[in-house]
This record gives sequence, C-alpha cells and structure tokens, in this order.
Amino acid sequence: MQNIAALEQEFESKIERGISIEPKDWMPEKYRKTHIRQISQHAHSEIVGMLPEGNWITRAPSLRRKVALLAKVQDEAGHGLYLYSAAETLGISRDELFEQLHSGKAKYSSIFNYPTLSWADMGAIGWLVDGAAIINQVMLTRTSYGPYARAMVRICKEESFHQRQGYEIMLTLSKGTPEQKQMAQDSLNRWWWPSLMMFGPTDAESTHTAQSMKWKIKLKTNDELRQQFVDITVPQAEILGLTIPDPDLKWNEEREQYDFGAIDWEEFWQVVKGHGPCNKERIAARKNAFEGGAWVREAAIAHAEKKAARTELKKAV
Ligand SMILES: [Fe+2]
Ligand SMILES: [Fe+2]
Repeated sequence: MQNIAALEQEFESKIERGISIEPKDWMPEKYRKTHIRQISQHAHSEIVGMLPEGNWITRAPSLRRKVALLAKVQDEAGHGLYLYSAAETLGISRDELFEQLHSGKAKYSSIFNYPTLSWADMGAIGWLVDGAAIINQVMLTRTSYGPYARAMVRICKEESFHQRQGYEIMLTLSKGTPEQKQMAQDSLNRWWWPSLMMFGPTDAESTHTAQSMKWKIKLKTNDELRQQFVDITVPQAEILGLTIPDPDLKWNEEREQYDFGAIDWEEFWQVVKGHGPCNKERIAARKNAFEGGAWVREAAIAHAEKKAARTELKKAV
C-alpha cells in the first residue's frame, strides 16, 4: 500500500512529464474538484449557449443559413454531452450536475446572458464568441486530464466551423446594403466587450490561475489569451470594414501587439452574479427543458430495465 506522499509524488511527476491523468489514476482531491468545476462549467456553457442562437433558427434568412445554424446549435448539444460524460468520470452524477446548474450553484459563461437582437448577432456570435472559445479550447486539447483533453480535440474542429459560418454571415452583411452593414456594426458594438470578458478576470484578480497553471489544467493566463484574441480579431474586422468599438485600440510597435481600452469589470461581475440581461430567462429555459424531458428519461430507464430482465431470463434458460 503506497502512502499519500508517494502517490502525490507520482502524480506530480506525471504532470511534469506530460503524461495524462486518467479516471482511475490517483489524484489529489483538489485536482478532482477543480476539474469537476471547470468541466461542468464548460458543459453548462455549451448547452446554455444553444439558447441565444436557437432563438433565430426559425427566422434564418435562407434555407442554407438555417441548415448551417441548425448544425451549429446541434454541435453545441454534442459538446455538452462529451463534457458531461468527461465530468462523470470524476465521480459526479449527471443529476447532480444539472441540479447545480438549475440552482445557480454552478456557473456558465456569462456571454450567454446577453440577448440576440438581430440576425447579425448569429454572425457576431460565431465570429467572436466561438472565436474566443477556440483560443481557450485549443490550449485545452493539451490539458492534463485525459478525458477532457480528448473531448476538446473534436470540439475544436467543430468550433472552427462555427467561427467560419459566423464570419461568413458578417462578411455577407458588411458587403450588403448600408442597412445590412449597419446591422453588422451594431452587432459588433454589442458583442465586442462581452467577448473580451469571456477570458475571465485579469491575471491579478484571477483566483484559480496559479494552481491551474501548475497542474497544467491551464497553459496560458487569461490576459495572454485575451491579447491573442484581440491580435487575431482586429485584422478580421478590418477585412469586414467594420469598426471595433474601442477608441483606445491601436497597434503597439514595441510590443508588436494591440493595446486596447479598459474592460468594464463592474458589468462583468454584475452578469456573473446573475444580474445580466437574460440570466433568469436562460435558467428558466434550461429547467423547463429538463422537466419537459423527464418522460424521455423515465421511458429510457424502463426500456433498459426490461432489456436487462430479458437478458437475465435468457441466461437462466
Ligand atoms: Fe461548443
Ligand atoms: Fe461553438
């Protein structure tokens, strides 16, 4: 029987050597808890994230747009599914995870608490929100917990389709009539700052960063990722001929990166604490879906039980 110190040493050494941690491996309780928090928060974000865009499926301007948006929203459901399964490998049940979401104990990405007011928002979300998600998630394909890292590989491939379909909507609108271009600009104005907030608090304020970097749960800090996003996105806005709503945004020759204005952290914390424009609506929609789906879960359980009983019967014969 190995003692705790030896197990801890073995664990740390695996992390250092880049060997992934698997569900049956020994792991510190805090590592397990951190992962349950992070993976479930991610899973909740995927399924809550279906709501703002789901709002526009029936109003897509053409069949082609409808098919693409439908596929995108379905992909997000799939992402939720992989991630809930990854969280379950850490010893928490799906019911507990949903209970945490419905009671407000678990968080999800605040970006989904903003409303989708126009068709252009489908463009801005794909371009900016999925774009920001990719930057966070590419890093996670190399995270230390095996099931999480593997889920992220497939998710990232799908996210890049989401980003492109969004950007293409923006491109079409910005090359369209003055009204369409204005619609795209208005959408960029509303989604730009919340997208920058998606990377979380500044490094100085982030409570989880240091430990998460040590355990290779995170490989880059919030501020590094945010900077990367700005540097990638500004030239894309230029191609669209749209203006990023930040008067302080400018290229810094010395750093070879963009400088950008201050984020309204007051707004960020208000939304995190549940006071964003759509927090209540989103949770109500999720609870409704969960309750509405109760009969499906009951039927599936009854079917599985019948099947198991039949197998038992066959074995007995
Ligand atoms: Fe996703
Ligand atoms: Fe996505």
